Amino acid sequence: MSAQLISGKEVAASLREEIKQEIASWKNGEQIPGLAVVLVGDNPASRSYVKGKQKASKEVGIHSELKELPESVTEEELLQIVKDYNDNEDIHGILVQLPLPDHISDKKVIETISPVKDVDGFHPINIGRMMTGQEAFLPCTPYGIIKMLEYVGVSIEGKHAVILGRSNIVGKPMGQLLLNKNATVTHCHSRTKDLESYMQSADILIAAIGRQEFVKGKDVKPGAVVIDVGMNRKDDGKLCGDVDFEEVSEKASYLTPVPGGVGPMTITMLLYNTLQSAKRFHR
Ligand code: GUN
Repeated sequence: MSAQLISGKEVAASLREEIKQEIASWKNGEQIPGLAVVLVGDNPASRSYVKGKQKASKEVGIHSELKELPESVTEEELLQIVKDYNDNEDIHGILVQLPLPDHISDKKVIETISPVKDVDGFHPINIGRMMTGQEAFLPCTPYGIIKMLEYVGVSIEGKHAVILGRSNIVGKPMGQLLLNKNATVTHCHSRTKDLESYMQSADILIAAIGRQEFVKGKDVKPGAVVIDVGMNRKDDGKLCGDVDFEEVSEKASYLTPVPGGVGPMTITMLLYNTLQSAKRFHR
């Protein structure tokens, strides 16, 4: 079998166009959605992500404000900046880029962001709402994966979804979103025994473990849908995912490439969440 590729680039472009159109028509352009992005320190990867988020915001007509802070900023100063954005009527979404320096508590920062402006979907209130099936901001990467599956018409209900990785940002919420769509979900991680047998029983396999080309052809059930969340750099400088693309493309029915798969969807869902937030504030 030769897998059909799910192009995140294509799904993202289609969704971004819808977002752009809606913003252009919304209230005759009187009010534009506003996103505040906070970047602490000089981590090159974080800087690059933040630049991507800003560029994408601008392209769809979201006003994006970047607050750059030195590595030495105190927790108290950062919390005050977040509180100021909570009170700022022009800002509908707040994103503090992670990771933060060790002297600042991620937990405190996330819990200080108003849940109604938490477009990352990281606040415990949004996580709780997601878990109980209520309206909530959904974390961008897993939400983007659901949108990709829906775009190509993969049915989720009744399927066995196996998630590799249990991060708060991807693995855990991914399982919950698939469960909300009536999948049977198995979470696997570094301590899972007989991982191979779980992978082989997956109808939908999500790889989010940060180990390059970990999932091999032998691990995949013929016809499975395989989503690669990995973003690893090989010794030759090339990007690769958590899935061995060559091998798995011979077994899967659908597969996401790296790059150009899940990556473009994460930023797109941030734009989507920011628009939803602005709509809620102004309806
Ligand atoms: N660091 C890596 N991914 C993310 C993300 O989606 N949101 C934030 N705030 N930080 C990140």
